[in-house]
Amino acid sequence: MTTTEVSTITMPRHVAIIMDGNGRWAQMRGKRRTAGHKAGAEAVRAAVQFARKKGIESLTLFAFSSENWNRPEQEVSVLMELFMTVLKREVKKLHKYNVRLKIVGDKSAFSARLQKQMQEAEQMTADNTALTLNIAANYGGHWDITNAARKLAEQVAAGQLQPSEITTALLASQLELADQPVPDLLIRTGGEHRISNFLLWQLAYAEFYFSKVLWPDFDDREFAAAIADFSCRERRFGLTSEQLQQAILDTDVTTGDKFA
Ligand code: IPE
Ligand code: IPE
Ligand code: MG
Repeated sequence: MTTTEVSTITMPRHVAIIMDGNGRWAQMRGKRRTAGHKAGAEAVRAAVQFARKKGIESLTLFAFSSENWNRPEQEVSVLMELFMTVLKREVKKLHKYNVRLKIVGDKSAFSARLQKQMQEAEQMTADNTALTLNIAANYGGHWDITNAARKLAEQVAAGQLQPSEITTALLASQLELADQPVPDLLIRTGGEHRISNFLLWQLAYAEFYFSKVLWPDFDDREFAAAIADFSCRERRFGLTSEQLQQAILDTDVTTGDKFA
């Protein structure tokens, strides 16, 4: 295929992903659900590398919802261990590739050990500029909005703010991710068509893309297909979605280096 001009692609600035389907991926292979989460962690690595190479500014990944605590105890504890191992293993690499890591959600519910690991990873990468990787852990859209409301209420109680001064912009400024552009593309893998209490406020104007692919199978081709679809919805310039998909796969804004 001839090279499609990169300038015809509308790249999203902020992509949010509901990484669903790990359990089914494992069950289809006769494995335990936790094996699916391990495979899912590999797909995370590829998605981060892809986003960075394509010049996406922010990537927000839903790793664990407020509701996921209700899963079987063994699954929850494997997920916690996995967070810990992945953080330990990947943070230096993220730093090397100039990725800023942020954990969004109610971190207070995690073990002291995990909270410390999260904080150290955030501190180490705080000044990086190539990509902001937000990991939503113990995150819920309801929690996020409630938390923002509580912060404003505290200011009112302290006499620093009048209720009449509360605007949508002020409330938005108290939410997670307020320092970044709002997500313009939401991808959900795993075939379900719901938002599962993800970024309820922040996704108000996002384009939604639903993929049947189970998260561990989500690769560059699938990521490019989602962006091509997004790009089509914006401006297609008479091109086909396949041409755009190929052009996205061919685009590399970095020097072409890979994660080691
Ligand atoms: C998403 O995969 C990962 C987490 C919620 C932690 P699931 O574990 O929900 O996989 P399915 O939906 O059961 O296949
Ligand atoms: C959403 O997936 C949460 C994450 C991907 C972390 P779930 O599998 O938990 O959502 P439901 O249960 O299908 O709504
Ligand atoms: Mg699921």
